[in-house]
Amino acid sequence: MLPHFPFDSDVYAMTMNARALAIDRLIEVEPRRYEGELAEKAAILASDYRYYFQAPGDTEAHAWEAIALLLPNMARHYPQYFALRTEGARWHWANRLLDTEAWLKLGESASLPLPPLDWLGRQVQEDLLIMAEDAAGGTPLVAGHLCFAAGWCLDDKLGRSFLAIHDPVPIFADRVGRSADLLMQRLKPDHPTGRVGWSITTSPELNRAPAVTDGRRDEGPTIDALNAGERCYLRLERQTFSRLPRTRGVLFTIHTSLTPLAGVLAEDAPARARRVAAVLRTMPAPLLRYKGIDRFQAPLLAYLDAQAAGDEATTGDALR
Ligand code: HEM
Repeated sequence: MLPHFPFDSDVYAMTMNARALAIDRLIEVEPRRYEGELAEKAAILASDYRYYFQAPGDTEAHAWEAIALLLPNMARHYPQYFALRTEGARWHWANRLLDTEAWLKLGESASLPLPPLDWLGRQVQEDLLIMAEDAAGGTPLVAGHLCFAAGWCLDDKLGRSFLAIHDPVPIFADRVGRSADLLMQRLKPDHPTGRVGWSITTSPELNRAPAVTDGRRDEGPTIDALNAGERCYLRLERQTFSRLPRTRGVLFTIHTSLTPLAGVLAEDAPARARRVAAVLRTMPAPLLRYKGIDRFQAPLLAYLDAQAAGDEATTGDALR
């Protein structure tokens, strides 16, 4: 199932694509993938803990606020999977998907077996990032539990401002930088907002941190008009931003999902294929390069055009 089809126009536009979330639901749970992805997170963290998790001591209060925000939200939206019982500052958390439970005392890190942000990151499929509020009202990144990043890592971004973090993104500063920065600065408690980001990739891996890709870009030569439906994936990031009322930090959650293009097109193939092709054709070349799509753009477009024309010959096995 594709949770979001992010293309709502035939023309590529870098927009904030931010909406006051009809999302009081901050976390998404996909029961078929949850356990596997959390096991993957554990393995990734075990491989190089400090690369994937960093939370300096002065961010502990932010992490506790993130716990106080997310646990009730998860229990409310997914009572079939999670249960929260509170006795003042003592909270009991039951995670039925992992078959685990914990007593925690809000604000007391010794009550948890792991640092609070690490513990929380192991309850959700999302990556979790914390931004602080600086003296000028800016929101530098100060902590993160980041196992499924698309081409970046904490070491590269920690301590940097919102705009500096986005430096490598072509046209970002001109098109959306200032308004996105202001959106972060003006977030109000109890008014989370969110957006969906997307890319197309040939890697089925969630973890695309520089340490694992070693600077390699997506493959190109082996993609052709016949196999693109199965070998290319729509990579979606459902992102939410919440103001943490006491520390004034921001909790940034990213839920990443990968769907083979054939699956994306399964519903209403000709119209969706036409739309994705139109977006790719209007995307500025530097952005296509940044996202790595330039390497396989030609066969991808050939595949999409054939799908748009309802061409059975290039439909590929996945759609049969
Ligand atoms: C309204 C808010 C935001 C907007 C409009 C936005 C937009 C974007 C865009 C357009 C990209 C390029 C990749 C893509 O097209 O998906 C990107 C990449 C990225 N964003 Fe954001 N973003 C927002 C919030 C944030 C926040 C809060 C963070 C905090 C850490 C963040 C961190 C990043 C990083 C690390 C990258 C990858 C940069 C790189 O390649 O080095 N973004 N963002």
